[in-house]
Amino acid sequence: MSYLYNLIIFRALASLVKLAYTVNTNSSTDTRTNVQRSIVLLTAEWPTTGANLNTSYVKKAFDDYGVNLLVVGFNLTDTEKSKLIRGASADQWYNAVNTVTTNNDAVATFVNPYYFNDKSATNFWCPMYPVHPTSSDNSSFTFQEPYNYDGPYSTDGQWTVPFDGQTGRYCNFANNQYTINRPDNADGMTVTVFYELEAGKDFLNFYDASNNLIASFTGYDISSSSFYTATPVLTARFTSDNQSVFRGFNVNIKPHPTS
Ligand SMILES: *[C@@H]1O[C@H](CO)[C@@H](O)[C@H](O)[C@H]1NC(C)=O
Ligand SMILES: *[C@@H]1O[C@H](CO)[C@@H](O)[C@H](O)[C@H]1NC(C)=O
Ligand SMILES: *[C@@H]1O[C@H](CO)[C@@H](O)[C@H](O)[C@H]1NC(C)=O
Ligand SMILES: *[C@@H]1O[C@H](CO)[C@@H](O)[C@H](O)[C@H]1NC(C)=O
Ligand SMILES: *[C@@H]1O[C@H](CO)[C@@H](O)[C@H](O)[C@H]1NC(C)=O
Repeated sequence: MSYLYNLIIFRALASLVKLAYTVNTNSSTDTRTNVQRSIVLLTAEWPTTGANLNTSYVKKAFDDYGVNLLVVGFNLTDTEKSKLIRGASADQWYNAVNTVTTNNDAVATFVNPYYFNDKSATNFWCPMYPVHPTSSDNSSFTFQEPYNYDGPYSTDGQWTVPFDGQTGRYCNFANNQYTINRPDNADGMTVTVFYELEAGKDFLNFYDASNNLIASFTGYDISSSSFYTATPVLTARFTSDNQSVFRGFNVNIKPHPTS
């Protein structure tokens, strides 16, 4: 594969995503704002020098339009495969498979993990953003979906106008769990949730250490919602169905130090 092909492929992909999704600029039409969107490139070749699907140009173009990329290779050589399928350690942001057949099993290798999110392969479209402290003194912790959530983080924050304010969406068929251990020096935690989820279908649920449901979020809240819990172990589970995907959630957990 030549250098030229390498250049063409990333420019074509970045331009295609813009061309295909400018439909969203007219807010009075069916804008497909809340569907999981992807471009699938079916190809029998891949640059052996490596296509430049770099994060500052090609990934940015996809992120700007809230679109995911799937590359399905057919009978690629080992060198081509190694350049296409690089793995998590190479900061891969798109999904990619290679197949030598076109039967149902081959189709399942990309439909099941990426469209049904069945965890049979790493889904690079929905990377986890695990619980982590927001400051070095552990005075609060956070987690969110999608990983590039850009909605409100504080009660004076606002969701911006639909779609363009945040192109990122969570994935269909999400089933992700987060565990928050109450710090030893705390007797409780205040949990604040900013969320925009498909009402009645996609849920962010919180469970205490005995697995009792203590809070459940679905739909949309203009500012935020909070609750207090004394549980030593708080588990959050986010589940989504096969239909709309919205702008997701940000959770902030503030431990109350024992006085
Ligand atoms: C947006 O779409 C509506 C409905 O199809 C149409 O009437 C309107 O002219 C469009 N606006 C623009 C700026 O294209
Ligand atoms: C990414 O690709 C663009 C377009 O070719 C280029 O201008 C930019 O320098 C590249 N960035 C990196 C980090 O490779
Ligand atoms: C795959 O490519 C090899 C050559 O690299 C060729 O011999 C083989 O027939 C191809 N298989 C299919 C299914 O096209
Ligand atoms: C913050 O928490 C992490 C792990 O939860 C721990 O390793 C670290 O020592 C804590 N830092 C402080 C300042 O308590
Ligand atoms: C998608 O959701 C609908 C409505 O909840 C359900 O009837 C259908 O079985 C689901 N399809 C799949 C493939 O899960």
